[in-house]
Amino acid sequence: MPQSLTELANLYATDKGTIGPSTEWGAHNYTDIYEGYLYRYRQSPINFLEIGLGVTGDQWESHIVHGRNTGGASLRMWYDYFQNAKIYGMDVNPCPYLDNDRIKTFVADQGKIEDLDAFVEATGGIEFDVIVDDGSHRPDHQQVSFSYFFKHLKSGGLYFIEDLASNGLGDGGNERIACDSVRNTRTVLKHYLQNGNFEDPNALIDQAYLSEHIDYIGFHVPPRKIKYVFRPSIRRLLKKVVYYKTDQEGLCIIRKK
Ligand SMILES: C[S@@+](CC[C@H](N)C(=O)[O-])C[C@H]1O[C@@H](n2cnc3c(N)ncnc32)[C@H](O)[C@@H]1O
Repeated sequence: MPQSLTELANLYATDKGTIGPSTEWGAHNYTDIYEGYLYRYRQSPINFLEIGLGVTGDQWESHIVHGRNTGGASLRMWYDYFQNAKIYGMDVNPCPYLDNDRIKTFVADQGKIEDLDAFVEATGGIEFDVIVDDGSHRPDHQQVSFSYFFKHLKSGGLYFIEDLASNGLGDGGNERIACDSVRNTRTVLKHYLQNGNFEDPNALIDQAYLSEHIDYIGFHVPPRKIKYVFRPSIRRLLKKVVYYKTDQEGLCIIRKK
């Protein structure tokens, strides 16, 4: 029986699954959601791209690489899951040690158009079936990469953005993943769903193309584990606060027409 995506995530200790690298690191519970969208591709010869590979180096100290996680965990998971896919990886840190018969990694900054152009040239301008952004999580970077790569997604292709956060203009978010020159990505995309245009300021390139080609945008609120150091009555209260707050969507999927 082939392993599920969650089993593979837990095997390699990416935080996309239900366990993660260590007890200090909260798992994100994304893989059950991913599997609903991606199971049909399991044996298909798809082109798959992940931005942000969980590898450490001079450009970015990748904290996820600790405990059971030895680096590149999600690429290893995707490789096992998609038996016939070509897996492309992009990161600011080089990680050629992950390359094999179906994996090819590239060094690029997802927020720099010139880097993305170089990536497209190096890969011969191929079109992708599935793209996952698990890179810097900065909203400007997410928006540049999404609007750039949406043009390189096949018709019917899926684009996922992980770890949406309140980290844009007016949010006062965490420094490393924040950027206050644009609205956070969740807000920009929700605004599109509700009003048919993208909230400003944003870093999206060619919004007319996006409007013409977006078929569907969906959001997910995966459960996040909270540490139970409180007594049950406080826990019940906390659960309400944690689970019923608005703007908690952590994962977003955009399908192309
Ligand atoms: C959260 S980790 C990815 C985890 C991995 N996908 C997994 O599930 O195991 C984020 C990665 O993004 C990379 N990164 C940070 N800023 C980046 C940027 N501007 N462009 C591309 N990659 C970036 C980091 O080097 C790091 O390896």
